[in-house]
Amino acid sequence: MNSSYILGAGCYVPESVVTNDDLSRIVDTSDEWITTRTGIKERHLSQGEKTYEMGVKAVKRALENAKINPEDLDMIICATITPDEFMPATACRIQSDIGAKNAAAFDISAACSGLVFGITIASQFVKTGMYKNICVVGAETLSKVTNWEDRGTCVLFGDGAGAVIVGEKRDENSMEIIAESMISNGDKADILTLEAVPFGNMLKKRPDKMPDFYMAMDGQEVFKFAVKVITDQIKKVTEKANLKVEDISFIVPHQANVRIIETAAKMLSLPNEKFFVNLHKYGNTSSASVGIAFSELLESGKIKKGDNLVMTGFGGGMSAGAILLKA
Ligand code: COA
Repeated sequence: MNSSYILGAGCYVPESVVTNDDLSRIVDTSDEWITTRTGIKERHLSQGEKTYEMGVKAVKRALENAKINPEDLDMIICATITPDEFMPATACRIQSDIGAKNAAAFDISAACSGLVFGITIASQFVKTGMYKNICVVGAETLSKVTNWEDRGTCVLFGDGAGAVIVGEKRDENSMEIIAESMISNGDKADILTLEAVPFGNMLKKRPDKMPDFYMAMDGQEVFKFAVKVITDQIKKVTEKANLKVEDISFIVPHQANVRIIETAAKMLSLPNEKFFVNLHKYGNTSSASVGIAFSELLESGKIKKGDNLVMTGFGGGMSAGAILLKA
């Protein structure tokens, strides 16, 4: 087996910023409630920019940082739960826009675990030697599936895209993927949902009322699930890598709620400072969140050669995963 690496990352968020105060003018909420319960202060919302268009911007930045040409991509995997169309795949729209003529392109649906699942898939293709350069992008316009009258959910989400390039080692900046883990628990699927087009055909009429196409969740159940799986997944990849959790320099968790992250930190006896947090600026951007956070961590210059990093995602499915990297 070959080794696989992360060669670069990039992200993009739409320009328009919506603050907690802005939300308090449309639903019965307050900056104080949202900040203390979630840590979120603001989020970026698309004003019509499509999921694939945001994905393109993140991918272009990732390619630039990895110094890879679009024609050198063998595969594009787009993780999204908010595609612009059922068909073609968002990844194909991205492929066409960037001119990645030699790539196979498809979407995956693993909600907020999407980027971590996508990187794990990409990593296997590199390890077997089938492909050399793969782009994994998480892109979401969650604002179009958010119920703007439900204060329990509308304060949580934002739009954006994050991308990474997975491939063979290029230079001393390439970060080796040491261990991967993925898990799903379909028995808990109903605690976080987003309905699709209802059944209907010439044999069975569609219901008169279409669903609302909004995200719905049992917040407390999701919270409990999240804390448990983050800690399990972090332990799993550190064990696979023959390391201890104390050996990890930075953890890039899915950015859903700062209280989830702090509870997980406590359960792992790790200081909060090891967890990279930027959810105060973007809210929960589902499959984009780990990519946006990872890009910002790379740009911060905090990572030193030899550092062990963990990316971890959790969300609808229910699903969760983690990846351990060595800088
Ligand atoms: N502003 C003000 N009050 C709000 C509110 C808001 N935006 N949203 C809910 N409330 C109210 C509720 O109506 C409830 O009022 P009541 O006691 O009068 O009934 C009260 O606040 C407590 O609600 P509850 O749902 O118990 O709050 P909580 O402490 O569980 O926090 C979440 C709610 C959603 C922030 C929290 O459960 C959470 O973050 N869960 C995980 C969600 C998540 O991350 N989902 C995506 C995963 S990928």
